[in-house]
Amino acid sequence: MTFEPYAARTHDKMRDVLMALETGTIGGEYIKTYGHYHIGDLDETYWFKEGAGVALLQKLADPSDPSVVAEFNAIQVKAGDEVYMPPGYGHLMINVGKTWLVMVDDSPVDGAEDSASMPGHADYTAVKAMQGFAYYVVEHDGAPALKKNPKYKEVRATDFGGLPVLN
Ligand SMILES: [Fe+2]
Repeated sequence: MTFEPYAARTHDKMRDVLMALETGTIGGEYIKTYGHYHIGDLDETYWFKEGAGVALLQKLADPSDPSVVAEFNAIQVKAGDEVYMPPGYGHLMINVGKTWLVMVDDSPVDGAEDSASMPGHADYTAVKAMQGFAYYVVEHDGAPALKKNPKYKEVRATDFGGLPVLN
């Protein structure tokens, strides 16, 4: 599966990135961003402007082993909410609503060579190696639910944010 997130900048000098996610599911999984960890000590905040979503955050026990997660968090979000992602926490956004999910973030996009949809500060390799995050967000009886990604060896601490977990 390939997914090309839409991202737009209204001005070259702007650091904020507006990202809008389409609605729907692919193979039962809600449409999501690719997910990444940051290179270095960079944090990030998302401000949700429209729609309903789930933010996934996960921190690896050891950055050299993407299969062991120290902490996994699912956070249900809607317009008006914000989510802070501390350094070291990989993050991924999912649209579970019936409209576009629109959010603004403060991640840096530097210069013409840098891309708002695949920024240079982001590391996608660990997510790619594990075929996604520790849990997928799938549609179950018309509502979002979590489904464990079997590729992960261990997930030590979890906060599912009120979402059910399917077997
Ligand atoms: Fe990020």
